[in-house]
Amino acid sequence: MGSSPSAATAMDGEKRPSEAMDGRERPALRATFSQREKANTSWPNFQFNSLECRLKHTQSPPASNNVEPSTLSLPRHIAIVMDGNGRWARQRHRPRSFGHRAGQKAVRAAIESCLKGGIGALTLFAFSSENWQRPPQEVSALMELFLKAIDREVDELHGYGVRIRFIGGLAAFAPALHERMRRAMARTEGNAKLALNIAVNYGGRWDIANAAKTAALAVQRGELAADDIDEQRFATFMSLSDLPSVDLFIRTGGEQRISNFLLWQLAYSELVFSDVLWPDFDAACLQQAVDEFARRERRYGRTGAQVAGTSGNSSENPP
Ligand code: FPP
Repeated sequence: MGSSPSAATAMDGEKRPSEAMDGRERPALRATFSQREKANTSWPNFQFNSLECRLKHTQSPPASNNVEPSTLSLPRHIAIVMDGNGRWARQRHRPRSFGHRAGQKAVRAAIESCLKGGIGALTLFAFSSENWQRPPQEVSALMELFLKAIDREVDELHGYGVRIRFIGGLAAFAPALHERMRRAMARTEGNAKLALNIAVNYGGRWDIANAAKTAALAVQRGELAADDIDEQRFATFMSLSDLPSVDLFIRTGGEQRISNFLLWQLAYSELVFSDVLWPDFDAACLQQAVDEFARRERRYGRTGAQVAGTSGNSSENPP
């Protein structure tokens, strides 16, 4: 995290294991992949052929119903906590904003990889509701970065068929930035190649509370019966309810926390934690995470034998 203890805890409001450790010194955690293991492939040359191949051989087409369990080996929806910009900058004796600018390049790489790989949805945690507590100059630098990024990138992303959505309490932003966000969303609304969701002033608890409030108002107006509220109905009031649930959650930067990201939408996600600091997280790193996802067995409460379709002859069911 950053150079000051307050900055260090601002992203998620929790203490880091050791401020003395930076990304290079930190031992591998529950090893997924590390920078040393990264393939020496630059993202423009990176191919998702193996992933496309697996997609062709999956058991069922991607579900549009976001509560439907998935047995696909290619994630339909990836969500990322992009952690490590501050440490990346500190390693280079540069200000934290330098790390955020470098992080923006990694954002482009992730988007490009998803487009190439046929991933339908990508949700990025760009600014949490707790991040307002960061030093004012860092918050300003981030706001300026978002504004410039929208001005610079929207045309191109629109050309690629990307639908951009900002989720979170958007009204908290300066009018100029809020308006840019609104226009970017309106402009790209009809696109369907990749749903790119950028969480800003976002918190998972805020999302759930907001959904509860919207549902309560619908009940008050007589449009919804309280008795009809079940998980599926409630989910329709959450952000991203039109997308498949998050299949793969990635957090970079060595920490293993969800930090109030998509709490509802992560219920059955596979969690992958990487030691790589976000600015260094390239297409090869993303593929390693997707490969890790493909190795996981998603059981949704069933037994391994049931998932494998062998429960009838397994030792768990003796004749
Ligand atoms: C967390 O790392 C990162 C952020 C709070 C900002 C993320 C923003 C970007 C990647 C910039 C561009 C984004 C878009 C969508 C244009 P940290 O600062 O907490 O890093 P540290 O843990 O090393 O201090």
